[in-house]
Amino acid sequence: MQIINSIQTLKNTIHPWRQAGEKIAFVPTMGNLHDGHIQLVRTARQQADRVVVSIFVNPVQFGPNEDFASYPRTEQQDQEKLNACGIDLLFLPSVAEMYPQPLQTQVSIKGLSTMLCGASRPGHFDGVAVVVCKLLNMVQPDVLLLGEKDFQQLAVVKQMVTDLNMPTHIQSVPTVRQADGLALSSRNAYLSASERQRAPMLYQALCAVRDAIISGAIDYQALVSQQTQTLVSAGFLVDYFQICRSTDLMPATLADQHLVILIAAKLGKTRLIDNVYFSKQ
Ligand code: PAJ
Repeated sequence: MQIINSIQTLKNTIHPWRQAGEKIAFVPTMGNLHDGHIQLVRTARQQADRVVVSIFVNPVQFGPNEDFASYPRTEQQDQEKLNACGIDLLFLPSVAEMYPQPLQTQVSIKGLSTMLCGASRPGHFDGVAVVVCKLLNMVQPDVLLLGEKDFQQLAVVKQMVTDLNMPTHIQSVPTVRQADGLALSSRNAYLSASERQRAPMLYQALCAVRDAIISGAIDYQALVSQQTQTLVSAGFLVDYFQICRSTDLMPATLADQHLVILIAAKLGKTRLIDNVYFSKQ
């Protein structure tokens, strides 16, 4: 596994692979790698001749009061995990390498970027879109792998790639969970022991609403209110809990068949997100 810090060296290394017609898969991350990330890397390994992974804690996707400074950085362990997966290249740029001067360009996906997580994290998805756009231009992969855990991020990047005719196929990877249902996330490390015990309730609430809809329930509002009450009683501060169309994340009507239920809630100081998607028939 080659470890590369500079954009120029990255391009020089990848260029001959592309010239030789090798298929290149790319997995962007912010490090602190867990089994969710590793699942993306394994899927990439199965699909491509060359696997490129980036680790970059992207400052422009964090709000002023968010956890950019304290975001867990575990470079040594991350490198060992990636080495064991047999990846070809780890791109580890500095902030100065990625943002040598203040950006004058914005990449904003109308609607999708400002709803749900975008409403409580203004500018977050613009920051995600711009860094993914920059990384795609640097790596020029055939396949980009993203996790379904961040369903809205996946929708934002898919829209950007489609709208801008970016020549990359997006492959989504199902959410990897702990045995009790909690979706793996670097931010789970912030949970206290008692919070960690309650955290799986988020996924349980999503599953309860999904199962009720599949069984024929039609009062979506009542389903969500009931589960929100349960979560609030357990100490969650629910940011949003919405039943949406999986295509464009707009609120679902009873006619919509392909649904995704998305939730964001704070438990203590930790903001957790999760989702389940399904078809009614
Ligand atoms: P990060 O949170 O490190 O996640 C990197 C990738 O891993 C994302 O595609 C995310 O959806 C996926 N992932 C995280 N937890 C997962 C889980 N439990 N199961 C499956 N996949 C999971 O998302 C980001 O970084 C950044 O926003 C990034 C796209 C790198 C842009 O900076």
